[in-house]
Amino acid sequence: MTQLSAAQTPQHQPADGGRALYGGKSTRRITVRDITAAKERGEKWPMLTAYDAMTASVFDEAGIPVMLVGDSAGNCHLGYDTTVPVTLDEMTMLSAAVVRGTSRALIVGDLPFGSYQEGPVQALRSATRLVKEAGVGAVKLEGGERSHRQIELLVESGIPVMAHIGLTPQSVNAMGYRVQGRGEEAAQQLLRDAKAVQDAGAFAVVLELVPAELAAEVTRTLQIPTVGIGAGPDTDAQVLVWTDMLGLTGGRVPKFVKKYADLRQVIGDAAKAFADDVVGGTFPQEEHSVH
Ligand code: KIV
Repeated sequence: MTQLSAAQTPQHQPADGGRALYGGKSTRRITVRDITAAKERGEKWPMLTAYDAMTASVFDEAGIPVMLVGDSAGNCHLGYDTTVPVTLDEMTMLSAAVVRGTSRALIVGDLPFGSYQEGPVQALRSATRLVKEAGVGAVKLEGGERSHRQIELLVESGIPVMAHIGLTPQSVNAMGYRVQGRGEEAAQQLLRDAKAVQDAGAFAVVLELVPAELAAEVTRTLQIPTVGIGAGPDTDAQVLVWTDMLGLTGGRVPKFVKKYADLRQVIGDAAKAFADDVVGGTFPQEEHSVH
């Protein structure tokens, strides 16, 4: 697909412009080693979800260095109410499309509910599909201490793992959508989870919906980068679900979302304008016709 353009003229030029994840000069595909080096340089970076080749190609051209094919595709792309029903076949198909649509971003494929909870061997079998069939550069799975054996085996087998702690949406039926890590005991558990995934070999960890002060403490404590979503300003990276960030999601979005556009309005207005033209006989016109 097309090469970078906006990435080469970022609004905030990082200290080392050449190697920077966002705004850097390199056009080869980003790897987990680049992510580790960014933490050493103290560089912050953005991550967005993506579920299809065309949207992913736009984010790639904008210089977004890491894309997550999240199982949020369940709610945001496939029409389910939660992430729970999403299957490994669906994640493999969506991840392959995002890989095809990009040439620079590191693509992280989410392991869906039921594809790794049985244990490390099931996790390895599932992650292998995402790596071999879809071509992702890393996988993500939910859980701290409870998932450390899975992370260990994947990393030993050569598959980079992004962990995900705090609110873990695949456990919605047990935990609901509530802030995690509030209170001393819960905060200590979150810190234990963060250290467990780092010790198991994860290259980064998503912190979802945790108090900003606690996310800052985890970020100071860990050597691996933290990726915040609803975790305040002090994490190493920030991720948003693209349909929330661009205002395509219908209904309420969480408080931590910043809307950078109102695509729902733009697309709806364009659809109505097209329909009005068709009904009124003003489309197509001569310039849209062949003879
Ligand atoms: O599935 C997803 O999009 C995620 C992000 C919210 C981190 O897990």
